[in-house]
Formats: sequence, C-alpha cells, structure tokens
Amino acid sequence: MTSQKQSAEQQPSHEQQRLAEQPLSIWLKEGTTSTHESLDKRIMSLDPFTDLGRYSRFLRTQSRLHQAIAPWFHDENVQDWLPDLEQRDRSDDVIRDCQDFKISSDELSQDQSAASTIVIDNPYIALGWLYTVEGSNLGAAILLRLAKKDLGLSEEFGARHLAGHSSGRGLYWKQFKEALDALELSESQRLEALEGAKQAFSFARANVEQLLAPVTDTAAAI
Ligand code: HEM
Repeated sequence: MTSQKQSAEQQPSHEQQRLAEQPLSIWLKEGTTSTHESLDKRIMSLDPFTDLGRYSRFLRTQSRLHQAIAPWFHDENVQDWLPDLEQRDRSDDVIRDCQDFKISSDELSQDQSAASTIVIDNPYIALGWLYTVEGSNLGAAILLRLAKKDLGLSEEFGARHLAGHSSGRGLYWKQFKEALDALELSESQRLEALEGAKQAFSFARANVEQLLAPVTDTAAAI
C-alpha cells in the first residue's frame, strides 16, 4: 500500500508533463492566448486608427514596449540562441515613427522613462519578452493595413515599426519559433520564460490604459 502510494506520488502530474514536453513556442502561446485576445480586443475597441491623434497615442504604447526589451535584442548570449536577433529590434523604427508624428521631446522622454522602469535581469525572462514582442509583428500586418487605409501612413512614414521582414512575416516568425523550440530549458527556466511573456503583455496593457484609453473613453462618453 505504502509503496503503491509512493510510486503514484513520484509520477509527474499531467501539468508537469505538459510543461516539460510542449515545444516552448506552444507553451508560451497557450499560456498567453487569453491575455492576447483581451489586449487585441481592448486596443481595437479604442479605435486607434480613427484619427492621427489616437494613432500617435497608440504609437507611444508601442514605443514603450519596444524600448523596454531593446537591450536584450543586442545581448550576445541570447543572440546565440535566436536567429537574426539584432535585426529584429524595432525600437529605432518606432522612435522614428514617433518623430514623424512630431511627438514632443517631453513625451519621448516620458516614454523612455516608462520603458526604463522595466528591469529584466535574467535571460529566460527576456526570452518570454522577446517571444511576445517578436510575435506582435504577426498582428502588425493587420495594423499596418489599417494604418495605410484609414490614415495614409506607410512603412516609410509613421508605421515603420509595423513593417514585415523582406523574407515574409510568416517565415521570419517560423524561424524564430524553431529556435525557441530547439532550446533545452529546465522546468524553472520555462516557467521564467512564461513569466516574461506575461510581463510583456501586462506592460503593453498598462500603457494602453494609460495613454490610449483616456482620450478614447472620454470621447465615447461625450
Ligand atoms: C489590436 C492589436 C492586435 C491585433 C489585431 C493582433 C492580432 C494578432 C494576430 C492576427 C496574430 C496572428 C495569430 C496567428 O496567426 O496565429 C497575432 C499574433 C501575436 N500577437 Fe498580436 N495583435 C495585436 C496586438 C498585439 C500586441 C500589442 C502584442 C504584444 C504585446 C501582441 C502579441 C502577439 C504575439 C506574441 C503573437 C504570436 C502568437 C503565437 O502564434 O505564438 N499582439 N496577433
């Protein structure tokens, strides 16, 4: 009886097995799908493409997000794990978009300060952030279409950071996911990566609520 109980206890739980066996990209996607859906719906409900003023606030949310993780795109150790990492950094593009919109230097420095409140001191947490920020380039295809159609912006003006890679967004993302899935992480490292992915979503959400929501919610209430 005792030995049967012990062996049952030694069996990994279904959850632990899933954590150990799932490809990392799927594990991160499953762990953040509902958060992504809620963020995506919230952003669209705030009509960022209705006018240039709202879009510029959306742009500032993107600027904070990309700047928060930017140093890790240039980390030599993480570059060994993920292909073309340096080229995937879109923080310069988003800052140029902000300059196209003549966002004031005060606001630019507010956004830089907001980004610098994020402290990522561990490469596994950084992996999760990189997953979220790089993955956002898939949804960016839809956003770029709207920015072009509704606001007349382009990959050369105002919507540079939404551009896809010349080899195609799908292929570029597939290569990134394959590299994630080839990493051999321990259970605790995988948990840290998921934590990082969730932190990135929650930082994006907080900035949307702070910058975009007030103007749109107020307009809706009038
Ligand atoms: C209104 C804004 C957004 C829309 C409409 C949108 C839409 C989408 C779409 C359609 C996909 C592709 C899903 C697929 O092919 O499986 C996607 C993927 C993704 N998006 Fe978004 N997105 C938005 C904002 C964001 C933001 C702000 C972030 C980051 C904070 C983000 C992170 C991701 C990630 C990580 C993926 C990849 C999921 C995966 O396949 O692993 N998205 N998004």
